[in-house]
Amino acid sequence: MCGIIGYIGASKAIPIVYSGLASLEYRGYDSAGIAYFLNDDIKVIKEKGKLINLKEKLNFDTDTFLAIGHTRWATHGEASITNAHPHSVGKFTVVHNGIIENYSTLKEELKMRGYTFKSETDTEVIPALLDYYYKDEQDILKTINKVSKKLIGSFALGIICRDDANAIYALKNSSPLIIAKSKTGNFLASDVPAILKYTNKYILLDDGDMAKITKDTITIYDTNLNTVNKETLTFTGSKKTAEKNGYEHFMLKEINEQDKVFKDTIGSYFDGTINSLEKNFGFLKNFKKINIVACGSAYHTGVIAKHLIEEYANILVYTEVASEYRYQKNFYDEDTLVILVSQSGETADTLAALRKAKNDGIKTLAIVNVLGSSVARESDYCIYTKAGIEVSVATTKAYLSQLTVFSLITMYLGYINKVIKKDELESIFKDIKKMPKLIKEEINNYQEYYNIADKISKNKQIFFIGRGLDYANSLEGSLKLKEISYINSVAYQAGELKHGTISLIEASTPVIAIATNKDLVDKTISNIKETKARGAFVIYESFIEPVDKFYDEFIKIPEVHPILESILTIIPLQLLAYKVAKNNNCDIDKPRNLAKSVTVE
Ligand code: F6R
Repeated sequence: MCGIIGYIGASKAIPIVYSGLASLEYRGYDSAGIAYFLNDDIKVIKEKGKLINLKEKLNFDTDTFLAIGHTRWATHGEASITNAHPHSVGKFTVVHNGIIENYSTLKEELKMRGYTFKSETDTEVIPALLDYYYKDEQDILKTINKVSKKLIGSFALGIICRDDANAIYALKNSSPLIIAKSKTGNFLASDVPAILKYTNKYILLDDGDMAKITKDTITIYDTNLNTVNKETLTFTGSKKTAEKNGYEHFMLKEINEQDKVFKDTIGSYFDGTINSLEKNFGFLKNFKKINIVACGSAYHTGVIAKHLIEEYANILVYTEVASEYRYQKNFYDEDTLVILVSQSGETADTLAALRKAKNDGIKTLAIVNVLGSSVARESDYCIYTKAGIEVSVATTKAYLSQLTVFSLITMYLGYINKVIKKDELESIFKDIKKMPKLIKEEINNYQEYYNIADKISKNKQIFFIGRGLDYANSLEGSLKLKEISYINSVAYQAGELKHGTISLIEASTPVIAIATNKDLVDKTISNIKETKARGAFVIYESFIEPVDKFYDEFIKIPEVHPILESILTIIPLQLLAYKVAKNNNCDIDKPRNLAKSVTVE
């Protein structure tokens, strides 16, 4: 959600900043802009829509060696050239990721001081405040520091001032911001992909940090303007993780990486022995209750984990979406562990839920993909998923890596709570070994799922049904399909359908029924037959071969221990959703209105 990049160095800045913006496109945006120094003045160029529109207005050969850029995901005010960043007032120009919650009050105050505003954005108050306080301070850093104390909300800022053509200034609170040094110049950026072409070393700014970035130096300041030293981190993944590598879409590439992601995630915490689980998950023993809190797909892994941990470890699990959890009354105590699940580690609602629990003295565990992200840093415990950089807005491999961590957690808790006995544990170990091959086989089987996709691509609505764990699997299958194909899709508990929703089933309505729970399969089949009797086009997904043919299509998946089965259940559904979206010419990696990292409420 919004991407920021800034560059100052020996190379021409516009091509570097433009390509940085291109690598941040995945975050979601609907307008973009660049500001740069030329002949001691700041020029701003902005455009609505895709980056290609901005490119047409830029001269890549311009003799400028300092530029900042922004991709905007509209919150305050429509996607338009006026509302696009950078925003300039007086001597200051800024790019901003986040939301200024007190912007209306600040705007009124600034209006009374004679300022006028061109845009509807919350951001425009920032350069106005900078301009106002600079008149007295006459010192850029002191002015930024003063303004930082007036702002309420989340902000990662890139700031330039007409009085200093040799520096970019940065300020961070709640929204992510990194600083990086390379051989040809220095950077600030929202995320690592923007700098990977030039360096894999970067510094994560903390809340309240300010930075001054020149061609040769990076200086970081705390809230008292004392300089601070920060650890330099190294991105260890391949540069290619942020490239498509010949795949038509990032989503397809990321689906294809899932056997490796499974191996990498398992391999980080489990070496085939219970000792390795004890070492990595031993702290879980201290808790009698678990709350899992997350958003979207990450929340779906929590719903699956609830079923698994309750069934196999006898521990009470409550799962809730973060946007509800953060405002509701929570019945947690010192025996409760709150688990936050997040790919980005920057999701505003998840972060707020984490802070609420911490504030109430409750212990927290982050299951997070992005190294050093806010959720990871602020939690008491952290388990990193090893999905690598995920670019496609619709998550696939990060989702799978979250499920993988939950499989390990369930296995460990199940064993120490004596629900999973040694024999069963050993059979799970065997299944874990088989998983990468089974995942790859499913991916290679894509044509079978594509053929089914071709039969349902023109439908207006598609239902997913299942019971228990399979309902949890349905939630993600349905989200994957609707978010990238724009076909309305709902997931329902199979037994609940007849209490209202079945009235929507008519001739040829696709119903995707998941049945991997042996104890419930007959019940689910009865529900499937109820839809079939009303003309549904039934796609049945299971490893249980049915005796009678009540379905139109059968997605046969391999059978493994239930702790691992959801991983094999989702892959055909990811590929099915991908093909439906492709058939409908949708923008698969960047679905309309969506952002990769949802840093606003
Ligand atoms: C859907 C999807 C979203 C995210 C959700 C949480 O494909 O990607 O539903 O799962 O926005 O994001 P993170 O995991 O970054 O907290």
